[in-house]
Amino acid sequence: MESRQRVLLIGAGNIGRRHLQGLLLSRMSFDIHVVDPFESSLEAARQMIKESSEHSHTISFHTSYSNLPKQANIAIIATAADIRLRVLEELLNSCSLTYVILEKVLFQKLSDYEQAQSLLAKANTLAYVNCPRRYFPHYQKLHAEAFSRDWKMTVTGSNWGLACNAVHFIDLYNYLTGEIPEAYDTTALLPEIVASKRAGFVEVNGSLKSKDARLEINCLLEEGHPIEVNLVRADEQILIQEGKGLVEGFSANYEAIPLSQMAHLPVQELLVNGTCGLTPYALSASLHQPFIQALLEFATGKINIENGLPIT
Ligand SMILES: NC(=O)c1ccc[n+]([C@@H]2O[C@H](COP(=O)([O-])OP(=O)(O)OC[C@H]3O[C@@H](n4cnc5c(N)ncnc54)[C@H](O)[C@@H]3O)[C@@H](O)[C@H]2O)c1
Repeated sequence: MESRQRVLLIGAGNIGRRHLQGLLLSRMSFDIHVVDPFESSLEAARQMIKESSEHSHTISFHTSYSNLPKQANIAIIATAADIRLRVLEELLNSCSLTYVILEKVLFQKLSDYEQAQSLLAKANTLAYVNCPRRYFPHYQKLHAEAFSRDWKMTVTGSNWGLACNAVHFIDLYNYLTGEIPEAYDTTALLPEIVASKRAGFVEVNGSLKSKDARLEINCLLEEGHPIEVNLVRADEQILIQEGKGLVEGFSANYEAIPLSQMAHLPVQELLVNGTCGLTPYALSASLHQPFIQALLEFATGKINIENGLPIT
């Protein structure tokens, strides 16, 4: 009989449960272990499983790491960013893991990026970061047919949480151009740092630009502007209206796949091929670091950043 692949899901909050929903869709048979110190999160996950269609996986729930198996094929770390490094370290110390999928924002402190890299190297664990636009068919078609260093990219939308979510678009910019912005200009951000919708985290509004001005990310305070991604080169323009689900200037149907319907895909690819379409850790770290650095400098003197930039 085919042996079950062991998958650990660390954190059963909103996004952790979406990962779980996705895993349940897999035709492979998983032995899934869900860990969350809060019984209420585990209960919500149990309820979600009850409501889902039939599957062939075994699923167990844990409030601590102590009863977890000592070996697993893959772990998905879906906690908030403030504890991500601590969770990664605890996990790698107690369990031998072949692959890890980490949620964005990776880490709040610059030093955490190298620390995580060395923990992963020491454990011989391959890590990827969940920036799922790389799995959206219209972006895959753009990547395959229109990949070019020449694109300038502008993202604009109302109140979409720039601090916590810009990494998705920095990742997309890299996917479509191969570029890694080295530094950012924060002078057009609105001066005030505000509370995020997620308790304990902060947000910024206004305009963030890469220093070379090839990537611009705008978060408008006024309502009514759904997110759009505008690509421009020479006399060519492609507009992806994410909020309206439209692609203009390029032949592709807009198709955003919810995590709950695709989370099993990178897991399966890793288990079968040893690689997947998500962003490899080292690349994602190089996309996160200049962004975190810019916002840390921007936040200095405005909020307490002793323990890092409070975004997730
Ligand atoms: N990739 C994406 O598209 C995407 C989308 C949304 C959110 N996210 C990211 O996912 C992360 C989690 O977001 P969320 O909305 O699910 O938050 P959440 O607060 O709903 O979930 C976090 C969960 O982690 C649990 N937790 C706390 N300490 C833990 C520990 N030591 N071990 C295991 N679990 C622990 C909490 O009890 C909670 O259930 C954030 O960083 C967020 O930015 C990513």
